[in-house]
Amino acid sequence: MTTSDELQATITQMVQPGKGILAADESLPTIAKRFTPIDVESTEENRRAYRALLFTAPGIEDYISGVIEFEETLAQNSDDGTPLPEVLTRRGIVPGIKVDKGKGPLALSPGDLITYGLDGLAERLQRYKSQGARFAKWREVYSIGEHNPTTLGIAANAEMLARYAAVCQEQGIVPIVEPEVLIDGDHSLARCAEVTGAVQQEIFYALHRHHVVLEHIVLKPNMVLPGKDHSVRASAEEIATATLRVFRRTVPLAVPSINFLSGGMTPEESTANLNAMNVDCPDAPWLLSFSYGRALQQPVLHAWQGRTQNVAAAQQALLKRARLNGAAQRGEYHARMESEG
Ligand code: 13P
Repeated sequence: MTTSDELQATITQMVQPGKGILAADESLPTIAKRFTPIDVESTEENRRAYRALLFTAPGIEDYISGVIEFEETLAQNSDDGTPLPEVLTRRGIVPGIKVDKGKGPLALSPGDLITYGLDGLAERLQRYKSQGARFAKWREVYSIGEHNPTTLGIAANAEMLARYAAVCQEQGIVPIVEPEVLIDGDHSLARCAEVTGAVQQEIFYALHRHHVVLEHIVLKPNMVLPGKDHSVRASAEEIATATLRVFRRTVPLAVPSINFLSGGMTPEESTANLNAMNVDCPDAPWLLSFSYGRALQQPVLHAWQGRTQNVAAAQQALLKRARLNGAAQRGEYHARMESEG
């Protein structure tokens, strides 16, 4: 099998109608932050038990085609001793891996951020691949301020994403390209649209320069939303319209799938917004789907509380959100489904 065939086989499995991706790749500080409200200590065993709960939840393979894992998880086992990536593979779910090393300030460009982790990436990918990973994820973060992100910030972030994506494809690993324009702040929907459009445009220019094959990437962007402190809220229809306008203008048809991140939206909002997009644009040239972390996991953590006797209820909470988002991918979600079964 050529590298191109290998990439295509992974894409075919990841990109399926009615299915999306579970982001379960929280870094050590982030998972600790998620565990704190439910009073669970972030020990290696608790993280293992939690991820095993997610990956073995009955029925999720009907709605989840891929799972993004954190490095540590690749080497952990389920309760019956099966390596966690293999638990996924056996269920027809593609294991993936977060490969960036987090963000920090972009030097000499106040307010801009940049993500680390390119050094040694090819070697790390070879190791992750031997542990079962077939796709990767890299997240660049853009904070909206009066003067940010700057033109330099947007260009530097695009360059990182393109270099990462090129290394992944060379290694036969499908890159998820994740630019996240943050929801934090009091900016308007229009301002988010302007920044998101500029970010996307620069990314596709950089991907082209770096010879990245667009048919073999998955784009994981933010939706176009007003900032969380903005005075005016937007309806799901307004968000869908604004988001689709930006992506129609910037994302080539060759990209197979746009899997949105949830980025601080509630589980219900993120499902309703995705549904509105698929209702609005049933013939979109890309699959419009989800790659949610918090929006899939919040109800699970709440149900689990770190207790073995709650595992089944927590797995049902995951199955419910996966099912509703699967329906939203098809444009078949209704708010009343939240209270049904
Ligand atoms: P959220 O859906 O919680 O934003 O997480 C997605 C993700 O993978 C962030 O990198």
